[in-house]
Amino acid sequence: MRVLGIESSCDETAVAVYDGAQGLLAHALHSQVALHAPHGGVVPELASRDHVRKLLPLVRDVLNEAGAAPESIDGLAYTAGPGLVGALLVGATFAQSLALAWNRPCVGVHHMEGHLLAPWLEPHAPDFPVLALLVSGGHTLLVAVEGVGDYRLLGESIDDAAGEAFDKVAKLLGLPYPGGPALAALAETGAPDRFHFPRPMLDRPGLDFSFSGLKTAVLYAAREAQAEAPLDDRLRADLARGFEEAAVAVLAEKCRRALAQTGLRRLVVAGGVGANRRLRAALLQMGASLGVEVFYPRPAFCTDNGAMIALAGYHRLQAGERGAGTVRARWPIDSLRPPGQQTG
Ligand code: KG4
Ligand code: ZN
Repeated sequence: MRVLGIESSCDETAVAVYDGAQGLLAHALHSQVALHAPHGGVVPELASRDHVRKLLPLVRDVLNEAGAAPESIDGLAYTAGPGLVGALLVGATFAQSLALAWNRPCVGVHHMEGHLLAPWLEPHAPDFPVLALLVSGGHTLLVAVEGVGDYRLLGESIDDAAGEAFDKVAKLLGLPYPGGPALAALAETGAPDRFHFPRPMLDRPGLDFSFSGLKTAVLYAAREAQAEAPLDDRLRADLARGFEEAAVAVLAEKCRRALAQTGLRRLVVAGGVGANRRLRAALLQMGASLGVEVFYPRPAFCTDNGAMIALAGYHRLQAGERGAGTVRARWPIDSLRPPGQQTG
């Protein structure tokens, strides 16, 4: 079965073709960074309009690159949520219109299930069961995964998501949107031991996360340091490094606890923050010390992409699922059921 996947949940328009027998045939992405940058963050209405402009040309490009005629597409998948409702509606309407014109089935996919399955786009993919750490701009989730659609939520952020914390700290350090990658780049040049920020939620049991206190600690440290000297590049880099060290330490420690608690021996990491080099290195090191194998998608499949939506859609279409056409701003991942058992 060959699936065209469409992602439009936030500020990236992305399309891909996934073939059950041949794997990923092609993928393409248009980033809206330049569009939103003057506003310092994503403007939902601008995002929706840009998805409208970019979807059709991207589909043409991807079909060309895949060498796939429209008739060879057996089904379509789009991101149905969670995300910005206007942006989601563009992708949903577009996918359903194509499905109608091509007389093919269409299914709505959960964005975080897409992220979760992204490691299976790579040649060296794990067997189930796995522990999944999903770290994106909107969510921080620890999930015990028995198989596709069989998800037990172990922990989540009670306030800011990990990516959101990176973005907010970047902003307070004066870095341009999108903050996460810029903050990570700045942290590379910072001193690891100048600022030691609190590791939130490590002093109590449980697998939930909290990042807003860490963000506030960086804000106060920046203010205090600024009272003595201007916020120069050195200081900003040291603050960025201190923040990154703390965030990574918390994520790694919660993974270690979740592995111990569940007895799972494989860890998959995905979502935009999964592209972070320090996090990848820390989790690999932790995995090696515990004898746990750690899997990541390539960085381009950690951040939003169409390939993960095509793959998740492939599993669900294959099992006969069809979309109800709804989109959802919020959609708990543990309300999903295995392919073929999902209703609504
Ligand atoms: O998964 P994603 O592309 O979109 C959402 O579903 O939210 O994640 C985007 C988030 C943003 O907060 C972005 O700043 C963060 O991932 N991010 C990073 C890095 N690359 C993207 N954070 C830290 N280090 C990175 N290298
Ligand atoms: Zn995402």
